Amino acid sequence: MTDSLPDNVEFINPRAEHGFKGRTCSIVSVGSYVPEKRLTNADLEKMVETSDEWITSRTGIKERRIASPEQFTSDLATEAARSAMEKAGIKGEEIDLIIVATITPDMPFPSTACLVQSNIGAVNAAAFDLEAACSGFVYALEIAQQFIMSRTYDTVLVIGAEKLSSIIDWKDRNTCVLFGDGAGAAILQNREQSHGLLTACMGADGGKAGLLSMPGGGSRCPATGDSVDQRLHYLRMDGKETFKSAVTAMYKAAQKALERCQLDISQIKCIIPHQANLRIMSAVGDRLGAKEDQIFINVDKFGNTSAASVAIALDQVVEEGRIQRGDLILLVVFGAGLTWGAAVIEW
Ligand code: UT7
Repeated sequence: MTDSLPDNVEFINPRAEHGFKGRTCSIVSVGSYVPEKRLTNADLEKMVETSDEWITSRTGIKERRIASPEQFTSDLATEAARSAMEKAGIKGEEIDLIIVATITPDMPFPSTACLVQSNIGAVNAAAFDLEAACSGFVYALEIAQQFIMSRTYDTVLVIGAEKLSSIIDWKDRNTCVLFGDGAGAAILQNREQSHGLLTACMGADGGKAGLLSMPGGGSRCPATGDSVDQRLHYLRMDGKETFKSAVTAMYKAAQKALERCQLDISQIKCIIPHQANLRIMSAVGDRLGAKEDQIFINVDKFGNTSAASVAIALDQVVEEGRIQRGDLILLVVFGAGLTWGAAVIEW
């Protein structure tokens, strides 16, 4: 633990209470990648009946990145992974496990994680995808940490990556203005000094699965001419209900994570909420009693990139020097499932 960590944290670290003392897990590096192409609100005005004014005031989004037709989720994930690996000085063969959180895999199978494994030469790694929608990166961080603490693996590559433009109905103004493509990655390792997750809380409510989904393409509704005609292979969302659930679930998850570490929100240097909507982030921040300058926002530039969202943001706050080693970060996420989660990181 570093000197700058609030005095009380080391002693009440929930990991230690559960017998994990002696095996520490660090986030040794993060990286990210977004495609070059920018799709602005002005561009969308030419595609559907919308306006920059509506999009900006209802969501905070000004532009989002769109992958090229030749770029797939595995390509975005690979770029983010290479960036994190370079920063950590880690070669492919040193990685024991790759977890890719995504709802837009290159294909139903094999997993995107296996494609990334091949791209980066991680010949010794196990690899699997994890599907927890926009909450996927926090889910994956926690799972990676568990593998390290249980002594199964020493080095885990966690990636959140999405090519959401591939499942967007570009005729539906309710959804097409909201999403973007990108990827973020983190490398977790068993290291002497701990710079990692102090706690992570995860939750789900499958009773509300219908609020945000892509109905077609699975075993329930395989692709047919009919399913394509009915536009079932696109993302669908009940925006209003999803919004309400997001605010409540994110607030509760964040509170739980803070309570577990006996931390007050004022001790958090940087809050990184899932970047879905500026109004959701403000509402969660208000309920938590956070100051505006504690909350990191990049939804204006990238829109909602689902599992990549907080991963890209984490890389950005590190690269921009907004946090230093020892600072506390709160990640708080929400997505389809419904799923949600929050994590306190000692950077
Ligand atoms: O990442 C997973 C989590 N995702 C989220 O958390 C997203 C949650 N939901 C939201 O962010 C918001 O609900 C939206 C941004 C999707 C919508 O904002 P809203 O304030 O809830 O708007 P609304 O759904 O109540 O729609 C208001 C009006 C409707 O028109 P009528 O029925 O009142 O005449 C919509 O048809 O705005 C209309 N509308 C638009 N108008 C211009 C919907 N989309 C657009 C658009 N441009 N793009």
